[in-house]
Amino acid sequence: MKCRVCRGPAIIDVRRHNANFCAEHFLRLCRDQVAKAIRQFDMLAADDRVLVAVSGGKDSLAVWDLLTELGYAADGFYLGLGIGDYSQDSEGYARRYADGRGLRLHTVDLPETHGFDIPGGARAARRAPCSACGLSKRHLFDDAARRGGYDALATGHNLDDEAAVLMGNTLRWQTEYLGRQLPVLAARDGFPRKVKPLVRLSERETAAYCLLRGIDYIVEECPMAAGNKHLAYKAALNDIEVESPGAKHDFYFGFLDRASARFRAEVERDRDGLAPCERCGSPTDAGVCAFCRLAARAAGPEPVRLSDRRVR
Ligand code: FES
Ligand code: ZN
Ligand code: ZN
Repeated sequence: MKCRVCRGPAIIDVRRHNANFCAEHFLRLCRDQVAKAIRQFDMLAADDRVLVAVSGGKDSLAVWDLLTELGYAADGFYLGLGIGDYSQDSEGYARRYADGRGLRLHTVDLPETHGFDIPGGARAARRAPCSACGLSKRHLFDDAARRGGYDALATGHNLDDEAAVLMGNTLRWQTEYLGRQLPVLAARDGFPRKVKPLVRLSERETAAYCLLRGIDYIVEECPMAAGNKHLAYKAALNDIEVESPGAKHDFYFGFLDRASARFRAEVERDRDGLAPCERCGSPTDAGVCAFCRLAARAAGPEPVRLSDRRVR
């Protein structure tokens, strides 16, 4: 197995590109793919200040590392979700990565700051843990980027994530989600710009990247994610990819090229009518935003208003 670039001994095959690479040229491939995604989708300007949502896992640490390598001023943001040892361990990985490289990591602890953790919040709101988690992350990442005056919020979503989300949205024809599933979302109404610089790299590649760069990351999946459909879609796509290398890439990038614009109208429709949340000031279309409602339910029973009662 020889490296496509230098013909030296290769350490990894990338079947999607029908090529093998040595360590040096694999790392260069990763940087080139991220730079290409940033250019292709106009994600970042050279002098943008970027906040990276860091979980302690391979993808978020890889994206932070790659952005820094490419010369962007990128700080990290870690959100403690209160999921027992898992949260403590993942924070440790994020902290060691940042300290080891002299990078700045902001942290917020959900239980300390907002009085509830994800298992408790999910129970109180009768939501699946991943849904309470996703809602809290979106809200608090946006909030941190806004308060810190960052130009963009970067997340570690890779090609496997995006293809799996696309598969889930397509299976149920969730057209408004399809209209919003883009590698970059422009800033608007108090929301920061959101970018996914890893969309051209697979999960296997981000894992190999971390290994070669000496980045230690949390390997365990979140314990609350068991039974999560996203993981099932990923597994199904992996089976397809074995038979048909490049299928994930073609599925996702074909969607962006040829289908995504058809769903944009739905997104435009719900653009109007955002006002600051009565409790936290974040933009919302509901008076009190979904995160503040989750926090209130987690804090205890909401008083029942007379008008909410059913009259028999
Ligand atoms: Fe969000 Fe597990 S990381 S529920
Ligand atoms: Zn090489
Ligand atoms: Zn709010």
